[in-house]
Amino acid sequence: MGMDATNMATLRCRTSNVEGTVGLAAALAQLVEEGDLLVLTGDLGAGKTAFTQGFAKALGVAAPVTSPTFTLANRYEGDLVVNHLDVYRLEDTQEARDLAIPELLEDGVTLIEWGERIAAALPNDHLAVCISFGDRDDDRLIALQPTGERWRSRLSALGDALEDWTSL
Ligand SMILES: Nc1ncnc2c1ncn2[C@@H]1O[C@H](COP(=O)(O)OP(=O)(O)OP(=O)(O)O)[C@@H](O)[C@H]1O
Ligand SMILES: [Mg+2]
Repeated sequence: MGMDATNMATLRCRTSNVEGTVGLAAALAQLVEEGDLLVLTGDLGAGKTAFTQGFAKALGVAAPVTSPTFTLANRYEGDLVVNHLDVYRLEDTQEARDLAIPELLEDGVTLIEWGERIAAALPNDHLAVCISFGDRDDDRLIALQPTGERWRSRLSALGDALEDWTSL
């Protein structure tokens, strides 16, 4: 995933605390459209759920966003529906099918933690959000890789919206 010919520029951002990641996600949320997919990649504790919390809150989700590690999928109502999945514990392809991802994608915006594990079941059009650890405990590197037509037209807007974090 993210390695095909339609892959575009990677936006490299940095945050130095959880509030930074929440703020970045909130800024990004202003650009999303119905049907968008964000694939969240990063080790345990990188900040995928923290990112989703900031993202959902910015879209008017009032309910607390909790890790869907055991439930696999949570659905929140905001200005848009926010589907939050964590496929870390997904056992087999039948379980992946049971999540009915194509149907989820028709409704609101979908974020999938550990989504790279089910790359074959996901559409090419998505934004990959890859969170990795930086030098200090709370430092994170957040690489955003837009892929496909859905994101092409929003590339420069994406760069503008995330300027505060790309220039750090
Ligand atoms: N810059 C930062 N960005 C995000 N989280 C941070 C940052 N600095 C510290 N943290 C802390 O790191 C933790 C991130 O946890 P979170 O549950 O979001 O990770 P995750 O990637 O979803 O892990 P998992 O794979 O277990 O679901 C939180 O405790 C958060 O407060
Ligand atoms: Mg998580």
